[in-house]
Amino acid sequence: MNIVNIIEKKKDNKVLNEDEITYAVNGYVMGIISDAQMASLLMAICINSMNEEETYYLTKAMIESGDVIDLSSISGIKVDKHSTGGVGDKTTLIVAPIVSSCGVSVAKLSGRGLGHTGGTIDKLESIKGFKSNLSEEEFIKQVKEIGIVDAEQTKDIVPADKKIYALRDVTGTTRSIPLIASSIMSKKIAAGADKIILDVKTGSGALITDFEESLNLAKMMVFLGKRFNKETIALITDMNEPLGCSIGNALEVKEAIKTLEGHGDKRLTNLCITISSYMISMGKNISLQEAQMQAEEAFKSKKALNKFKEFVKYQHGDINNIKEAKNSYDVHANYEGYIRDIDETCLANECLYMGSGRVNKDDVINYGVGIIIKKHIGDYVKKGDVLATIYYDDKKVNDKNVEKSFILSDTKDNGFPLVYTIIR
Ligand code: URA
Repeated sequence: MNIVNIIEKKKDNKVLNEDEITYAVNGYVMGIISDAQMASLLMAICINSMNEEETYYLTKAMIESGDVIDLSSISGIKVDKHSTGGVGDKTTLIVAPIVSSCGVSVAKLSGRGLGHTGGTIDKLESIKGFKSNLSEEEFIKQVKEIGIVDAEQTKDIVPADKKIYALRDVTGTTRSIPLIASSIMSKKIAAGADKIILDVKTGSGALITDFEESLNLAKMMVFLGKRFNKETIALITDMNEPLGCSIGNALEVKEAIKTLEGHGDKRLTNLCITISSYMISMGKNISLQEAQMQAEEAFKSKKALNKFKEFVKYQHGDINNIKEAKNSYDVHANYEGYIRDIDETCLANECLYMGSGRVNKDDVINYGVGIIIKKHIGDYVKKGDVLATIYYDDKKVNDKNVEKSFILSDTKDNGFPLVYTIIR
């Protein structure tokens, strides 16, 4: 087999077969295929895409590049959740304890943030002492003992994705449905859960901004789930405004706790109850209605809050010791009107500038910094009102950028729906 012929074939918009796809993935992992060759193939895939079968073979080859976690010794149905990523997305921190406290085991591997969208592991590590690198034995033991674990993905799970993702990141080949679908689903399937729920974000702050494209991504991932015999449901949810009020690792953990205490943002709370209901329904084989009642009860009774505390403590975190920024100040409005839109990518980039995430892979995170949004879509703003509070250490944000992130209109807008559609 010859990689140049495979690249040419995809460049000519022809369908690759299983052997060709497996050869390309294995060859790249083993170092036989160079970065330049893989980047050419990825670009050809970005331009000409892949059909379902090709994407299935790509996902399969990626899974087979590493270990698959065996969760069969844990009783019951294990359900995993994945979000395609968005600004201020702290749903996992809320959903996982709700679902676990309803008796469905959550065995989750999460990632770190790169660029303007955050990662769950970075958020959890803003809690002093939190241990995210667990061995497979520790991971399984924890699920058996307390029904919930969230750990960092090890280097042995889908090593092909690690290498390919890093290359995609620097070659303009991130936004491609077969590449995103295979990257996410290979990791989900290798993580060993029986069933998977996907939160596919759409809108200005999402990886995929266009609704039709988000729909195609969701359909492709549900197809892959089925091909690997994992029941998979995808919710397409809105990412046109930040989820909840906070952006930044420690601030998001604090907001998750506040939400579990019952004092959270309504939109965020509703989304978490919706996702939890699907997970509980799948995990217990009960109706969605019954599952929603259980989710709401776990939430209201604080069973979910207690489960979150138990989980953090088990992974050595001190919930009373969450990192904080040294300083804070308010940004005020210089105008009047209804908020029609919020440019969450701009706000996230300001957080990134203050150190909340990594621009380069090895950057050190400043966990305490971030922004709390005080006004939401549909709110009326008067001159002098506080739009946002900035938490910073040494680098301040550009206030003008924060101000102009709140986009005004003369008339009140009802905002965006929370869940657009569900793909099964
Ligand atoms: N998340 C992933 O894990 N992979 C992608 O390609 C995009 C988002």
